[in-house]
Amino acid sequence: MERRAFLRNVATSVTGIFGGAVVAPFMTTATLHPETSSLGKAIGKTTTVKVGGSATFSAPMPSANMTKPVKGIIIQPTKGVFKAFASACPHQGCPVGYVKAQQSFMCPCHHSTFSSTGALTGGPAPTGLVPFQVQVVKGVLYVR
Ligand code: FES
Repeated sequence: MERRAFLRNVATSVTGIFGGAVVAPFMTTATLHPETSSLGKAIGKTTTVKVGGSATFSAPMPSANMTKPVKGIIIQPTKGVFKAFASACPHQGCPVGYVKAQQSFMCPCHHSTFSSTGALTGGPAPTGLVPFQVQVVKGVLYVR
């Protein structure tokens, strides 16, 4: 087999194995800065979330069981402890809010409630809130 035909066969085989749509993202991922990809998405400074308070952010990417980008909500229940969740209620997707006085999340649509750990505590939602991993590096919050 001549060299040009061999290379064409290899390229066809790789495209066949991975599919064209998968090869392109794989190549893009390889060019990302390793530190950025391992930490996740920087969403802001820790000082933007007061102790006992909350803030919302654009989620970095869908979780494995979500099909489109979502909004997130991050809280600091005690000093230096951050927890982040997808803000979409698992019942029908309404955005939940954090009630500081009760240290819990509440859904305004059908009144599901969730603890500060995201666990379901009441209402029609079938599960708790979907969590994000949070990392703090040099005062910056990263989620993934
Ligand atoms: S959408 Fe939240 S309880 Fe129905």
